[in-house]
Amino acid sequence: MTDSTPLLARRPQWTALEDHRAKFNGTHLRDLFAADPSRAERYTVQVGDLHIDYSKHVVTDETLALLQELAAATDVFGQRDAMFRGEKINTTEGRAVLHTALRAPADAVIEVDGENVVPKVHAVLDKMAAFSQKIRTGEWTGHTGKRVRNIVNVGIGGSDLGPAMAYDALRPYTARDLTFRFVSNVDGADLHEAVRDLDPAETLFIIASKTFTTIETITNAKAARSWLLASLGDEAAVAKHFVALSTNAEKVAEFGIDTANMFEFWDWVGGRYSFDSAIGLSLMIAIGPDAFRELLDGFRVVDEHFRTAPAEANAPLLMGLLGIWYGNFHDAQAHAVLPYSHYLSKFTAYLQQLDMESNGKSVDREGRPVQWQTGPVVWGTPGTNGQHAYYQLIHQGTKLIPADLIGFAKPVDELGPELAAQHDLLMANLFAQGQALAFGKTPDEVRAEGVAEELVPHKTFKGNHPTTTVLARELTPSVLGQLIALYEQKVFVQGAVWNIDSFDQWGVELGKVLAKRVEPALAEGAEVPGLDASTRSLVATYRALRGR
Ligand code: F6P
Repeated sequence: MTDSTPLLARRPQWTALEDHRAKFNGTHLRDLFAADPSRAERYTVQVGDLHIDYSKHVVTDETLALLQELAAATDVFGQRDAMFRGEKINTTEGRAVLHTALRAPADAVIEVDGENVVPKVHAVLDKMAAFSQKIRTGEWTGHTGKRVRNIVNVGIGGSDLGPAMAYDALRPYTARDLTFRFVSNVDGADLHEAVRDLDPAETLFIIASKTFTTIETITNAKAARSWLLASLGDEAAVAKHFVALSTNAEKVAEFGIDTANMFEFWDWVGGRYSFDSAIGLSLMIAIGPDAFRELLDGFRVVDEHFRTAPAEANAPLLMGLLGIWYGNFHDAQAHAVLPYSHYLSKFTAYLQQLDMESNGKSVDREGRPVQWQTGPVVWGTPGTNGQHAYYQLIHQGTKLIPADLIGFAKPVDELGPELAAQHDLLMANLFAQGQALAFGKTPDEVRAEGVAEELVPHKTFKGNHPTTTVLARELTPSVLGQLIALYEQKVFVQGAVWNIDSFDQWGVELGKVLAKRVEPALAEGAEVPGLDASTRSLVATYRALRGR
């Protein structure tokens, strides 16, 4: 796209959607379902193992056609192809965006600056597999000769959320004789609680940082090294107890980690898209190399679908466009992701970085202020817990919050018969919520239950709250990969339509710079030039409370 690209909101396809939206007012999902008995069937798409029902969206065939016209006008598929080809679509950083190469088959050819990157990807995967096996079998021993039993991943953002989320998601597939911990917060309490019951002689630290300059990670890594050396006493122990995942060999060596113990990735992998790179090492140790490769296969299933499926049956495209329908034409500000699986407890937190760091932008690729809403506030927790907390607001509040409901047909094998029997109740809740959100309860239905007239408004559910339901047979490594890739590509679609750079994150820089400037004031009371009155007073209060 160039400066001459017509601004999105002036495109005829955009104004056609605005007109359509105006005529649409008052249309209820109850009417849409009544008018079309085949709606559920027609508005369902199968991608790999994912059954995706989008029939409970407040759309008609015309809406979907108009949204597809917008996607065509903004050349979403052309932009997609440029990404898959390795073009430098992250223009503000001058980088290719090739997380899809991380799961490409060994014989694929994907070039960056004339070099095929696929052999490098597979060489690192092989190195990770060999190392993982050594840990899993006990062949890799610590400095004192003891077997490594504890693995602590130290990283933040994309170097933490993916492995931490996936470790929880795939617990039944993990080596239960190993302990995994994930440390991200620069609050010393995080590291303290993670290691306080661990034997240093049995502990491996994986320092995960794309840049190896992130202050939280480097600070925690140094503290971890001190903790280790306080017990083992010998600098040489670092070689057996620390490995690094990074793109920055120089900084890794400077920290004191042998680059032979470094697992590499590259600047064409964005932090929040890096979980299937070397950043997944802790997960690979947990689930084993074979299951990790199944996970990568899952990602690939959705990549291929996104690359080849026709627009009208292309799930990431549809999900992206539906988000645009609500965000841009109904003023929806938020999007809830509600997994009906305890194993996916951290899934939404992972998606928050993926979506909000990617699409939380307010200038377009040419640097012009956007005149349309971009990424939503993404939030949510496992479904039934949310039902007893914030669903009230979704059902009867004043905000429109489209939601994704994610569930699995099969409970995990190891639950045993009694706990497995609870699974129907769990899933009944998912189905009931989708139903209640869509169809609600009319005042007449409430009255028919004999409810006193003054309570009727309170017990009425307006309904018409859109949901997508994603079902799969069970949460396997492959299915997890499919789910993540589905959201990655959905986020891509939205950024492509909004004409923003979904792959930079300049918005996190200012806070980092200011924290560095303020820190000396906290410790030493140093004068920080130009500090505003509020922050100056807060710093003074902090120092007084700390007795400084
Ligand atoms: O939050 C900013 C960010 O750069 C993320 O994009 C990234 O995932 C995270 O910090 C951690 O960065 P690194 O892996 O370089 O330590």
